[in-house]
Amino acid sequence: MAAGSLVVWIAVVGLTVYAVWFGRRTRSERAARWLVVGGGVALPTAVLTGLLAYGLSLLPQTLAPAPPGSLTLQVTGHQWWWRVRYPREGHAPIELANEIRLPVGEPVEFQLDSADVIHSFWIPALGGKMDMIPGRRTRLQLRATRTGTFRGVCAEYCGTSHALMAFMVVVQERADFDRWLAQQAETATVPADPDAARGAELFLANGCGACHAVRGTPADGVIGPDLTHVGSRLSLGAATLTNVPSGLRRWLARTGAVKPGVHMPAFGMLAAADLDALAAYLEGLR
Ligand code: CUA
Repeated sequence: MAAGSLVVWIAVVGLTVYAVWFGRRTRSERAARWLVVGGGVALPTAVLTGLLAYGLSLLPQTLAPAPPGSLTLQVTGHQWWWRVRYPREGHAPIELANEIRLPVGEPVEFQLDSADVIHSFWIPALGGKMDMIPGRRTRLQLRATRTGTFRGVCAEYCGTSHALMAFMVVVQERADFDRWLAQQAETATVPADPDAARGAELFLANGCGACHAVRGTPADGVIGPDLTHVGSRLSLGAATLTNVPSGLRRWLARTGAVKPGVHMPAFGMLAAADLDALAAYLEGLR
């Protein structure tokens, strides 16, 4: 597609340069008509039909279900974050948020849906985009060909913080991926540090567990992102902030300033020491 547009662009610029510098002589009306019919109708029709056919030829591969036995992920769009589930046979799926890890070189199928409005799932470096439609499951298949960290975005306007609805995609070797997934399946670490332990109490006392789950603790909310391993993630607030303690404190205290329209209330009324303890607890959930 890029090569096709480059050829067209070079041809148009070339004609413009020719017209401005070398084209200063009179031409017959017949030649002008040929230019309009040929360059204005026939050529674009041929080029666009060719590019369209090429684009459509890629679709079946994107939309087809991945080969049996492939890794399948369920991703649900929410205003403005992503619920990610790795289904497991005989167990509840492993749930996390705003981060996806994939094994390199293997076909992966994403099963996409939405909890509220239409979102669009897009990892520009890895594949095409696909709408996430409430009440309907869509699919997207892709295969990452090299390891690395990539950014995914929501590609459909979905409300105030649409532009702050991103996620991180880490493509790893199979062994690293398996290790990561096994670790994500575990329940949360029990905080050893006294500050973090106080943070765990504050987390429950302030009602955070009504919306967020931390597996292995009484916090079992399902409205917001699962925080069991939030400390291990690359970003906070759906790739809005870097995952460092100062970022966490900022998120907790000024949630609506960081992400306008967010459903989570800000906890700026808490004492600074309490915010530090909460941040220490959440950072420790690796
Ligand atoms: Cu979700 Cu835009």
